[in-house]
Amino acid sequence: MTKPSVLVTRAVFPEVIDRLAQYFDVDDNQPDVALDGAALKARLAGKAGVLANAADRIDAGLVAGLPALRAVCNMAVGYNNLDVPALTAAGIVATNTPDVLTETTADFGWALLMATARRVTESEHWLRAGKWERWSYDMFLGMDLYRSTLGILGMGRIGQALARRAAGFGMSVLYHNRSRLPEDTERVLNARYVSKAELLAQSDHLLLVLPYSAQSHHSIGAAELAQMKPSATLVNLARGGVVDDAALARALREGRIFAAGLDVFEAEPQVHPDLLTVPNVVLTPHIASASEKTRRAMADLAADNLIAALGVGPQAGQPPSVINPEVMARRR
Ligand code: DGY
Repeated sequence: MTKPSVLVTRAVFPEVIDRLAQYFDVDDNQPDVALDGAALKARLAGKAGVLANAADRIDAGLVAGLPALRAVCNMAVGYNNLDVPALTAAGIVATNTPDVLTETTADFGWALLMATARRVTESEHWLRAGKWERWSYDMFLGMDLYRSTLGILGMGRIGQALARRAAGFGMSVLYHNRSRLPEDTERVLNARYVSKAELLAQSDHLLLVLPYSAQSHHSIGAAELAQMKPSATLVNLARGGVVDDAALARALREGRIFAAGLDVFEAEPQVHPDLLTVPNVVLTPHIASASEKTRRAMADLAADNLIAALGVGPQAGQPPSVINPEVMARRR
């Protein structure tokens, strides 16, 4: 019997390709060449499924004319790269990789927060540039985390993991989210629900972990930055586009907030040129989930989803993390 064909859009751990090859005829991209627009569409012709990456835009235009395509499996928890209504309408199952990256991403959020508040990279660049001649009392004064107020915008799994870390620093935790958490969860996390305006005004450190959508586009722009404390730090772990990068660069340059830490950018891998020239920002290349163990777990989960969504393997017909379960239900 011929195996169904699948595409893996980006280079991935070779063991994952080997596992997929037990069930599928795999068109891999281990040389990691850029596949966008027409190239991606051409490679998807005749494929039953795709293991995709958060940077692969998969929308109505792309899936039109691909009648064989039945599963799109993102190796990411965020899925703003997928047009889920269009996939659902076309009968294509969409999946993502929640849970396996929660703690690793929260660890990195904490690292970025500390580096930002305590000026770790800025002072390191200065030292490497040979500028350290003697110690002085006011070198690289930063902002304390200990006993400060942490604000979290978007209180999903990663937001909650960040709130748990705040307990060790004696912080007060405020949060704002589309929906309020149950009271017992708030109690366990020691987190208080507030309006977005109060979150902006009260936070010493504001962490962004909300999903990107048309509604969350530029959730932090010039108007919001103006409501923050001049001593505040802002950390974006969510998606580029949640922050207006140009407005943030202006606010940093003018000292309207103290500093920012950014792992995601509006036009990544391009970074707004003004962010590259302000000193009070820590910049990292979208690596919050990048521990060896977690990236393997994400790739394995994406592969489990693809195998199961195409009706084979030990979980046939029951992919572990489906975004549009109605499509699977229609197949039963
Ligand atoms: C995710 O999983 O959404 C991370 O941002 C990696 O893309």
